[in-house]
Amino acid sequence: MNNVDAILQSGQAALAAVTDLIELEQVKARYLGKSGELTELLKQLGKLPAEERKAAGATINVAKQAFEAAHKQRFEQLNAAKLAAQLAAEALDVTLPGRGSAGGGLHPVALTLERIAGLFRTMGFEVADGPEIETDFYNFQALNIPENHPARAMADTFYVEGGDVLRTHTSPIQARFMMDNQPPIKIVAPGRVYRVDSDATHSPMFHQMEGLWVEEGVSFADLKAVVTDFLRRFFERDDLQVRFRPSFFPFTEPSAEIDVLGERGWLEVGGCGMVHPNVLRNVNIDPEKYTGFAFGIGLDRFAMLRYGVNDLRLFFENDLNFLRQFN
Ligand code: PHE
Repeated sequence: MNNVDAILQSGQAALAAVTDLIELEQVKARYLGKSGELTELLKQLGKLPAEERKAAGATINVAKQAFEAAHKQRFEQLNAAKLAAQLAAEALDVTLPGRGSAGGGLHPVALTLERIAGLFRTMGFEVADGPEIETDFYNFQALNIPENHPARAMADTFYVEGGDVLRTHTSPIQARFMMDNQPPIKIVAPGRVYRVDSDATHSPMFHQMEGLWVEEGVSFADLKAVVTDFLRRFFERDDLQVRFRPSFFPFTEPSAEIDVLGERGWLEVGGCGMVHPNVLRNVNIDPEKYTGFAFGIGLDRFAMLRYGVNDLRLFFENDLNFLRQFN
């Protein structure tokens, strides 16, 4: 029993020396475990004479409690230190300025498309759609452009294996819509179109919007009124000069190019005309009963004019410095 104090002292020193919670538990086991030093002392109590047993038991228990108290204190110290270290490692300065949010925006051509479609919606037109890979029938034949017709050379066509084409204009959408619907028909049809062409003012992929109004009694006067009204509202100029210059398209008769008078003279912005009776017949609409007009405008050209962009290629290079200006 004489070494109780010595054991307790060495135990307390061992507790003070540990540096983490794992070591702490190892030390605890060394003194209070199944064959720990203090536990062994208790086991030997039975070997003492009866009259010494009680006092010796009390002495060992006091030592045991002192060790447990020291263990508890060290445990709390180490735990607090561990928590403090963790908090320091995960410290977050909530007063730092934020990174800011990088909001995206619509592409200038998409903005232009939305604006134009919106103007036509207010005039009672709905928006129609069609496939970009088109059949020869809808891109050409239904539109009164038979095989070997010289007008096929007007647009250099991308051919897809199997004889389909990348649509060269949005006019196949009007043919499709008329095939599926009887008059009255009043649609605009925006979309991507493709031609073998590439320079500052031509891109192999560009955007057009088709307009179509078929109903009894629709005339060239209606065509001029709708297109002129649209152009004046788009450019926000009530006195904008619009010119319809006689031209040729296989799918319209008569046909015209649409010009607007700008600062540097007349500028072509689209083509138009009265839907050719052959086209109406091709899509099962009676040309004796119905007439209609159609027009096609270049959306990229409209975007260039509205935003003062002088090179078409800027629209398709995905340069963020360019695109951010339209956010
Ligand atoms: N499809 C013609 C083109 O791409 C434009 C057009 C559309 C002309 C409708 C007349 C009527 O050039």
